[in-house]
Amino acid sequence: MGFRLIDKQGQQSQRMVIFGAVFLLTTLLILYGSNSGSDVVRGQFQVVANHHALKATDLKKWAGKEGYVSVSGNKTMTLNCNHCALVTSSSHVLGTGAGEEIDGTECVIRMNDAPTLGYEADVGNRTTLRVVAHSSVFRVARKPAEFLNRTGGNPVIVFWGPPTKIGKDAKGTLFRLIQRVSRVYASLSFFTISPGKMRKFDHLFQRETGRDRQKSQSWLSTGWFTMVLAIEMCDNVQVYGMVPPSHCGRKQGPKKMPYHYYKPRGPDECVTYLQNERGRRGNHHRFITEKQVFARWAKQYNLTFAHPTW
Ligand SMILES: *[C@@H]1O[C@H](CO)[C@@H](O)[C@H](O)[C@H]1NC(C)=O
Ligand SMILES: *[C@@H]1O[C@H](CO)[C@@H](O)[C@H](O)[C@H]1NC(C)=O
Ligand SMILES: *[C@@H]1O[C@H](CO)[C@@H](O)[C@H](O)[C@H]1NC(C)=O
Ligand SMILES: *[C@@H]1O[C@H](CO)[C@@H](O)[C@H](O)[C@H]1NC(C)=O
Repeated sequence: MGFRLIDKQGQQSQRMVIFGAVFLLTTLLILYGSNSGSDVVRGQFQVVANHHALKATDLKKWAGKEGYVSVSGNKTMTLNCNHCALVTSSSHVLGTGAGEEIDGTECVIRMNDAPTLGYEADVGNRTTLRVVAHSSVFRVARKPAEFLNRTGGNPVIVFWGPPTKIGKDAKGTLFRLIQRVSRVYASLSFFTISPGKMRKFDHLFQRETGRDRQKSQSWLSTGWFTMVLAIEMCDNVQVYGMVPPSHCGRKQGPKKMPYHYYKPRGPDECVTYLQNERGRRGNHHRFITEKQVFARWAKQYNLTFAHPTW
């Protein structure tokens, strides 16, 4: 009980610090805006009203390599690829036979506990980067041979989540587990996303959607983090198994497809997307909004979609 209370207070004071920092930044921005003439201010309002006119964030250099914290040892994130395959966890990958093409790509990116064993023909068997949500750490750590040490490669593992859970100072079970795994599999590189970069992800969501992530009770998805990291690290990204933003809203209801290829009896993909997109009570993922942003990024970066193509 006492521990909980301290944790809550810690969170609260941390929130105050963040709030203070945001307030200071806003003040500075307003001061800067008024110093540099009304044109700038007018431009900023237009941006809010119509985010298509927004000068987009350059994801190639938006945060830099210092946004990653090495879990053990003193590694730096150096991943840089010409061609990347981003394999989604959607059941749209099933039956595609894309495995060989994926394995033939310089870097292969996967998410959470998406397996390759038993699905090689469709998803391939190499992994260069695996992006793991705080909520999937236990699932990944439970089967390290499958998710961390298959086919002998030495993938980079990036964990994302609230700094209170996976940050170095969190000292919680989750961070200790990540640390333990990273010591056993020392030839792999384990990173957490730094608190500063986590805040940048929130700002990016707001810039790209016009909505404050926390006020709109939105959770970012692993897909969002993975897409941004892929664009940051890769000159060219081919995405496998992601549906376009309009897919689930079609009149004659799309075919039922499991949300995850490795959970055939799991929830339906469109039901999950629509429920989350419309959810107002509690926090929700905004899978469809995120895909609208991805569609815009596809015009800006070398980003293509296969199975389905769009
Ligand atoms: C980590 O590496 C950097 C350069 O690669 C070096 O400057 C720094 O001192 C190292 N830190 C530790 C704790 O070894
Ligand atoms: C998987 O790995 C093996 C050897 O590492 C390779 O022979 C095979 O072609 C790979 N790809 C698929 C799609 O199974
Ligand atoms: C990871 O896999 C390699 C080759 O398959 C094996 O030699 C090594 O012992 C494994 N590492 C751990 C920690 O299990
Ligand atoms: C697109 O790909 C080409 C060839 O790999 C590369 O030279 C170029 O920088 C890429 N453009 C962007 C915006 O990433």
